[in-house]
Amino acid sequence: MSSIQIEQSLSFKRPLLFVFLYLSDYSHTSEWSPSVILASKTTPGAVRVGTHFAIEMRFGLSDVKLDYYLTAFEEPHYIEFKGKGENFSIVERIRLEGDEQQCHIQYQIEIYYQEPVSHLVKLRAPLVKSRLKRDLLYLQKALDQEPSTWKPSLWSRMSDRLVVPGMMHFSRSGFAHAKNRWTGITEDLSDHIVLITGPTSGIGAAVARQLAKLGAALIFVCRNEKKAIVFADALEAEGYKRPRIEIADVSLVQDVEALTARLLARGDPIHVLINNAGALFNKRTVTAEGLELSFATLLLGPYALTEGLYPLLKKAAADKAKGARVINVSSGGMYTQALALDDLEFEKEDYNGDKAYARAKRGLVDITEVWAERWRGDGIVVQSMHPGWADTPGVSQAMPKFYILTKPWLRTAEQGADTITWLAASKEAGLTSGLFWLDRTPHSTSMIPGTKSAPRHQTLLLQALAAYHVRLRSRAQESAPRR
Ligand SMILES: NC(=O)c1ccc[n+]([C@@H]2O[C@H](COP(=O)([O-])OP(=O)(O)OC[C@H]3O[C@@H](n4cnc5c(N)ncnc54)[C@H](OP(=O)(O)O)[C@@H]3O)[C@@H](O)[C@H]2O)c1
Repeated sequence: MSSIQIEQSLSFKRPLLFVFLYLSDYSHTSEWSPSVILASKTTPGAVRVGTHFAIEMRFGLSDVKLDYYLTAFEEPHYIEFKGKGENFSIVERIRLEGDEQQCHIQYQIEIYYQEPVSHLVKLRAPLVKSRLKRDLLYLQKALDQEPSTWKPSLWSRMSDRLVVPGMMHFSRSGFAHAKNRWTGITEDLSDHIVLITGPTSGIGAAVARQLAKLGAALIFVCRNEKKAIVFADALEAEGYKRPRIEIADVSLVQDVEALTARLLARGDPIHVLINNAGALFNKRTVTAEGLELSFATLLLGPYALTEGLYPLLKKAAADKAKGARVINVSSGGMYTQALALDDLEFEKEDYNGDKAYARAKRGLVDITEVWAERWRGDGIVVQSMHPGWADTPGVSQAMPKFYILTKPWLRTAEQGADTITWLAASKEAGLTSGLFWLDRTPHSTSMIPGTKSAPRHQTLLLQALAAYHVRLRSRAQESAPRR
């Protein structure tokens, strides 16, 4: 057996206990290490000796799977992991010193190669050592919360204008490419309240877990209580705060009104609102309130919820150190369509689910820009984003042919969720407002000439949504049982 070893000292201006807890959950490595593609904790409950992590790592030119176990957990001074791959094993030892303000660590990594690859060690050693050192540099940047210095290159800006190259960014490899220039998210959200719609599946579930790991208090807005309870139980069993469950179908103004009334009566600030719930509907359907379902779910619902929660966002933003953020989950599909102000409910032409979805998602990006301007003085940051193409139940159910064709290139739900989590948590994302993001990078809102909405049309859209909102709200009040 042959081995490779490295040892590195690092210092951070972060509390010792925070760094100890952060590093002892190995699932965080996928956030900061360019070599780690996936890292998940598979043992329920809080991290302790024996906790198992399933790891997928880039090793040389290939991707390898490893089983990692936490083998020492001596709070707050010593952590040890043992990992096992097919032909090699890894031991990572982290010694920590520090106080409330700062932390110094000694990070030691040993890799043991077995036959038949052990003879390659001499050859591999320089590359492996430089990769390990590079990874630790990324850990340093993550814990220093260093803002990214990367700015979109000319090629990146041009590819937004060229449909096919632009769409290549949506894939799994687009994510992997972008990830190399990031630093991990290590913010502490333990005094933040985050409301997310659609947390019971796909991207919403991945965002919920990522934010729970950062300590956020989550409010789940969902229509399926059973699914929400199962997921809340799972998060609690993993050692995170139990999310509060609020039932509402976001396609129904009546439900959204009842929800906002409950939250306003409670009065807790909302630091982050994530309008994520959504789906693509292949057949034209109308809601119980008589509205076309894509429009009602993807545009009017987020509008009514965000406007309704404005007082609680403003309350959160009054604390300037925290601020408030609204994140609207749109789609790259929106690039294909212009806003159809005169036909928001798709009544004037034969219904097409892809078009209805794309138009509603463009509308969501448009109202993001208006809100961002309107609420700038309140300290409420409003951003829209698209997750790329992610492997979720939503995609496999609504687009089965696309799903089969593109499956090898799809990102994971966690990768699709990453930018939402970054927009919710990072200091850097709070410095701008009204932008459209993919992979932590602002992108143009149009690829095809004629699809970008004029500011006048964006304002008209907001007025049209307000009129729908008022009409449905008064209808709901009229039909409510009188006391
Ligand atoms: N996956 C992608 O590649 C992709 C690409 C671009 C944009 N997006 C957007 O990302 C978001 C998440 O999509 P996903 O792929 O993760 O889909 P998903 O797996 O189907 O999850 C959608 C979530 O939204 C909830 N939801 C749908 N309609 C709702 C309603 N009327 N009221 C309350 N909750 C509702 C679902 O609840 P139930 O569990 O009750 O069904 C589920 O929790 C969507 O806005 C989608 O348009 C996804």
